[in-house]
Amino acid sequence: MELTYRPRRLRRTPALRALVREHQLAPTDFIYPLFVHEGTSIEPIGAMPGASRWSLEGLVDEVGRAWDLGIRCVVLFPKVADGLKTDDGAECFNEHGLIPRAIRRLKEVHPGMAIMTDVALDPYSCDGHDGIVSSEGVVLNDETVSILCQQAVAQARAGADLIGPSDMMDGRVGAIREALDEEGFEQVGIISYTAKYASAYYGPFREALDSAPRANSGKPIPKDKSTYQMDPANGREAILECQLDESEGADILMVKPALAYLDIIYRLRQESEQPIAAYNVSGEYAMVKAAAERGWIDERAVTLETLLSFKRAGADLILTYHACEAAAWLRRG
Ligand code: PBG
Repeated sequence: MELTYRPRRLRRTPALRALVREHQLAPTDFIYPLFVHEGTSIEPIGAMPGASRWSLEGLVDEVGRAWDLGIRCVVLFPKVADGLKTDDGAECFNEHGLIPRAIRRLKEVHPGMAIMTDVALDPYSCDGHDGIVSSEGVVLNDETVSILCQQAVAQARAGADLIGPSDMMDGRVGAIREALDEEGFEQVGIISYTAKYASAYYGPFREALDSAPRANSGKPIPKDKSTYQMDPANGREAILECQLDESEGADILMVKPALAYLDIIYRLRQESEQPIAAYNVSGEYAMVKAAAERGWIDERAVTLETLLSFKRAGADLILTYHACEAAAWLRRG
């Protein structure tokens, strides 16, 4: 054949392929999500092989391991004791609560590690919702936002670098920005869950924290989060959320889940000049682990390919439970 263009020319050797490679993964792209609970045990999470609920000291060691692998940011999620859960989730702004204590301890031992937090009521609420549920079963927006502001300030006071509102209440980014600034935390950033979908991919996470929506003393509790998280059918609406979060002062915009929403990552990348984060969620992680355990896929190759696809779609950073293993694979080359 007489062909002018033969794209295979540039695929011929590893050196040529490396020369024209458009995207690369690095350990500094990752934010490593970690679960923490009271007590001294380290409890493996059934549907998330390799992930655990850490004790405070176990958490300190695990963060040290992540640091040594080149990871520079972690995000913390609490498994809160049932006795501390209330209708309004007020434990979330207890300055001596699990998360503020974990942040302070980590900052003592690993001062260089950036710490991101989650802002939402679900781990602290009897109802398992991200906001306060009224007696009619409505998740209340504005009342919830004022509690989230207190939660964010408590986290900032403990030393958090990035506050991550995951609740999807309207107006919460602007309100949190104002609350942080009023308390002198104008240097603390907001990584907003901008396009967070009402997704079934969060199942294993809710098992880890025992935080799924549940019945509570006869109140009509919505069984899912579809009145505040986004409808998986909607793409354009993510642009609206993006514009609102930018105007309210978000520093980083997140899409969640990641793999089934690569189009949304791409669209936000076109829309905004802010850094974009992708959250490779618990259900995505569980699927890879389950298939790998059965020997049905090559775990290393599938994981790295998946993570790379987020960068190709336009993400700058990736929240992933694979962070440590991926960082180790990247180091070994
Ligand atoms: C809490 C929160 C959730 C996740 C992160 N923060 C669960 C939810 O919204 O129900 C999910 C993370 C994952 O599945 O890995 N608001």
